Amino acid sequence: MYHDKLESFPETFLWGAASAAYQIEGAYEADGKGLSVWDNFTKIPGKTFEGTNGDVAIDHYNRYKEDVKLMAEMGLKAYRFSVSWSRILPDGEGKVNSKGLDFYEDLVDELISNDIEPVLTLYHWDLPLALQEKYNGWESREVIKAFSQYCQVLYERLGRKVTYWVTFNEQNVFTSMGYRWAAHPPNVTDTKRLFEANHIINLANAEAIKLFRTMVPQGKIGPSFGYGPVYPLTSSPEDILAAENANDFNNTWWLDVYCKGKYPVTTFRQLERKGIAPTIKAGDLELLKEAKPDFLGINYYHGGTVAQNKMENKATETKTGKNFSATDPYLMQPKEEQSKSPEVPMFQSTENPYLEKTEWGWEIDPVGFRVALRQVYARYDLPLFITENGLGAKDVVTNDGTIEDNYRIDYLNQHITEMKKAVTDGVELIGYCAWSFTDLLSWLNGYRKRYGFVYVDRTEQDEKEMKRIPKKSYYWYRDLISNNGENIN
Ligand code: BG6
Repeated sequence: MYHDKLESFPETFLWGAASAAYQIEGAYEADGKGLSVWDNFTKIPGKTFEGTNGDVAIDHYNRYKEDVKLMAEMGLKAYRFSVSWSRILPDGEGKVNSKGLDFYEDLVDELISNDIEPVLTLYHWDLPLALQEKYNGWESREVIKAFSQYCQVLYERLGRKVTYWVTFNEQNVFTSMGYRWAAHPPNVTDTKRLFEANHIINLANAEAIKLFRTMVPQGKIGPSFGYGPVYPLTSSPEDILAAENANDFNNTWWLDVYCKGKYPVTTFRQLERKGIAPTIKAGDLELLKEAKPDFLGINYYHGGTVAQNKMENKATETKTGKNFSATDPYLMQPKEEQSKSPEVPMFQSTENPYLEKTEWGWEIDPVGFRVALRQVYARYDLPLFITENGLGAKDVVTNDGTIEDNYRIDYLNQHITEMKKAVTDGVELIGYCAWSFTDLLSWLNGYRKRYGFVYVDRTEQDEKEMKRIPKKSYYWYRDLISNNGENIN
């Protein structure tokens, strides 16, 4: 839709930036903190780029005041961060570590005294290792109780100071990476276990929201989902149907549960046929229905493009992944093998010929951002909070000590422009947190894939002084915030 003039962002719009505990804090054993599954996983040889881990990260635990000062000087209105569960409950449950709580309360106080709205994520992937070892992590319902205790402790301590709470960060990403691709902890490749664990996390999410209603009635809570719109490769009805299937499998599988309290039927049936649907016990669906969020957090990086599945169209070849041919039909495989790839009969992922990619192969698709916001808002009718969006790139410090990250400014400018169009279209947005405030540890890619407005001078092997240097994009975002995005048109 063409607009002559774009509407202004609301006066209360929260221009922010984001981070996650494991990627910035370091101090992995300080002040009584217990280990998390990431402290363990990153030590497995070959799992991360050059064996990088978050033991020290960018030392935010010790330098948070310096970091918040930079936020304040930028005029940031919101800062999204996550709490490390094992800093609060070193064993994941039971005894509370007061020093861990103090750290987050100090951080929140520091933000508030600088007029920065804290946005607190309860779970950004760092499950306490003790819970993985004792209960097999998210595969056990015992962990729902532990998560509720953890939430309760934080609601009690910070419920009067923090308005915006995020339950789970990108449940779609961490479950798939952890249980299907063994690229995150717990290092598993088993789709049955993936969907079982995912269901238990859905229940934990619902319990956390229910408890929030009683303990923080004035607050707002919701999950942050990694949303990608799905495009059909062509206008053939078969490709359109494939895109419907992919959207069901990749997006509504999670979002319908959060917002409608039920699983989408098409994917559920498919998982049942393959013997990998989650076990639903009495009371589960009622619980899911009781826990509608106040807003949806959206993390947007890119979407995907699909064509008709391989069995119905054997001539279609995918440019990525393995091809299926008439002589290698998926249907001839034993059921256990089929269950590993339940989406194969649903759709086939392809390249999008219209989109450029980042150095790490992520499509750059600002219009897809507007599409995403429109789709999610229309389907779920909830305010949206952009909790992540940004560009991972290799930054260079010039001889005069500056970082001229014009590519990042271009990327953010294009995305924010599309976001403003979505606002003009009628989408209700609470705020926008760019990923990320400072450079940080990219889970699997070390420190060379940088996202921050603030450069942190360290490499994979050399921690150096970890000097903070605002990049050109820092000043650009500062100006944008000061005029509430009016210069975007
Ligand atoms: C999101 C995560 O999936 O993507 C962040 O919530 C992450 O924690 C970001 O850092 C970028 O991913 P990557 O792999 O480029 O660091």
